[in-house]
Amino acid sequence: MRSVLFMSRKGGTGKSTLTCSVADTYAKKGFDAFILDGDPMGSSINWFMKQKRVYPNGSLTCEKIQGDLRGPIEEAKKKYDIVLIDTPGSDCIELRSSLLSVETAILTLKSSDVDMDTKGYMQDLVLRAKEKNPKLKIKTLVTMVDHYISEDHLKHYIHLLSEAGLSPFPTAIQNLEAFHEAMAVGISVQDLRSYKAKKQINSVLEGLESE
Ligand SMILES: Nc1ncnc2c1ncn2[C@@H]1O[C@H](COP(=O)(O)OP(=O)(O)O)[C@@H](O)[C@H]1O
Ligand SMILES: [Mg+2]
Repeated sequence: MRSVLFMSRKGGTGKSTLTCSVADTYAKKGFDAFILDGDPMGSSINWFMKQKRVYPNGSLTCEKIQGDLRGPIEEAKKKYDIVLIDTPGSDCIELRSSLLSVETAILTLKSSDVDMDTKGYMQDLVLRAKEKNPKLKIKTLVTMVDHYISEDHLKHYIHLLSEAGLSPFPTAIQNLEAFHEAMAVGISVQDLRSYKAKKQINSVLEGLESE
């Protein structure tokens, strides 16, 4: 069993998109995956309601729950192989309570200085949660990288995250139409032709598995 939380201080960093595609990838691999949508916006549950996929070996379930998520996460951990929690892009009860129950918190950051500047605040939240949940690990994922961001600039961001002890995933998530389309029509990037998008999602799973 593995529990992973996607978090950010800002909205629109790709958390829901990642939650859905990562969950679908696990279900396709034969795991029983669960999405706990802790965001009142309900992006993950809306995607889940649209998607019609049947998984031959695994399964994918989604529930929207608000408030203190510790109990629901502990329950889900008993039932599913992988529990993915989608939270709002703000400091809230759903985020803080999840940090007390999950193994891994993935901080999603867009590739801009303004977004990178939010990392200290989020790192602090995680460090405080660690006092009560010593197993908690933080990882960072640079997301929605625009085509005009140079390779060197991206490496610089990843280096900064690494220096700050934020265990960055080596592969960033690019701003690609496939991610946008998948979310809009209720499918996963695994069902689209974008080799790049699939590779980027698979690298998230590899990063989680290599822990
Ligand atoms: N990597 C990406 N490339 C292109 N569009 C993306 C990507 N990730 C997310 N989007 C789009 O950006 C918007 C915000 O994404 P979302 O996953 O809802 O962010 P969050 O949950 O962090 O608020 C959505 O319209 C989504 O389709
Ligand atoms: Mg969201």
